[in-house]
Amino acid sequence: MRRTWTEAPPVTGGHPPAVDFDVAAAVGRTLHEILRERLAAAVAIDAAFARGVGERVARFTLDGGKRMRSRFLWWGLRACGGPADAAGTEAALRLGAGLELIQTCALVHDDVMDGSPVRRGRPAVHVDLAAQHAARPPGPGATFGTGAAILVGDLALAWADDIVADTRLPVGTAAQVRGLWQAMRSEMVAGQYLDLYGQTTGSRSMPLAVKTATLKSGLYSVERPLALGAALAGADERTTRALCSAGRCAGIAFQLRDDLQGVFSDPEHTGKPSGDDIREGKVTYLLTMARARAEATGNRALLEVLDTRVGGGHALTEEDLERVRGALVETGARDLVETRIRRLLAQSVRHLDRAALARPAAAHLREMFCTAAGGDRTTDDMRPFAEASHR
Ligand code: IPE
Ligand code: IPE
Ligand code: MG
Ligand code: MG
Repeated sequence: MRRTWTEAPPVTGGHPPAVDFDVAAAVGRTLHEILRERLAAAVAIDAAFARGVGERVARFTLDGGKRMRSRFLWWGLRACGGPADAAGTEAALRLGAGLELIQTCALVHDDVMDGSPVRRGRPAVHVDLAAQHAARPPGPGATFGTGAAILVGDLALAWADDIVADTRLPVGTAAQVRGLWQAMRSEMVAGQYLDLYGQTTGSRSMPLAVKTATLKSGLYSVERPLALGAALAGADERTTRALCSAGRCAGIAFQLRDDLQGVFSDPEHTGKPSGDDIREGKVTYLLTMARARAEATGNRALLEVLDTRVGGGHALTEEDLERVRGALVETGARDLVETRIRRLLAQSVRHLDRAALARPAAAHLREMFCTAAGGDRTTDDMRPFAEASHR
């Protein structure tokens, strides 16, 4: 049975070894406590607002997701030798909760921006909201569903910021955390803008595709959470740099995997629609590579498929999508992206090996990189990267 926001997740204890045992549950417990307070404050403002917006933030955040960002923060902290005490544990769990709320903001807004109807296997927030007031005809502005979903994302971001501001940290650490947090928020927004910009300009630029993947996803998903963990642990500059470089590579690999899954994986498994990037004409590395390969090899037929189908919106049939999938395979773009992911993963492991990190936690990070880059098809050829961690 799915947990709702009113039920507390199981208690696993607050000291580091217990958190190690189930980081996601510990973050869930922290989120639960924080969100209960926030919802009480929302009710005091207005009951309809609390029900329509506040409860949606809470439900979306508590009910799903792999908790990857908060786990990267935690294992980054552990790899750098933290936390020193219970206050350090609490701070890490609170910042982890903040990351999950940033994720709520990112996903709720992303589904509006991408016109995606499904998220985490359920109706996207804007679709759910629209269904509630379907009887009323839409006005001239944003519909109720998209308008209210923008507010759900806004509130999640505001609550995330509140958590960071209210977290007790040593003075030097607080300044570092503030700097990282501010950079991370702007990077994610910049990446999401580049995603739209590339789409609307019909860009075919490979550097733009990589920059977009890095900014919209890689940084806030992997590198910045690791940097936050390192900051909480008071890690030295060299260690932090190596950890961040590892996170940069793994973060890009994670988004490249997400792009592949968004085209080739079963929505039942990903909990997201299939083919959105094709319909919307996104400047993913995969689609950009396919065009470049079709041009380089002078394959007019495949270029024609890509030019006439990609960006075709909801007019595209399942047959059109299949033809584009075929073109992605035939141009070799799919294989090239797989190769790039493996190289990035190998690079991230090398960076990790350079850093003086606590061994069990570093091993755990390696496995997490592997899963992030492998998604639902962590391939056999990726296994050695994870297994190397047990040397
Ligand atoms: C999805 O992130 C959005 C991207 C940045 C690609 P996740 O795959 O971490 O999504 P959840 O939180 O587990 O649903
Ligand atoms: C990922 O966007 C980045 C953010 C959500 C900020 P995508 O549009 O590529 O991610 P999915 O595939 O919808 O999760
Ligand atoms: Mg999307
Ligand atoms: Mg998007």
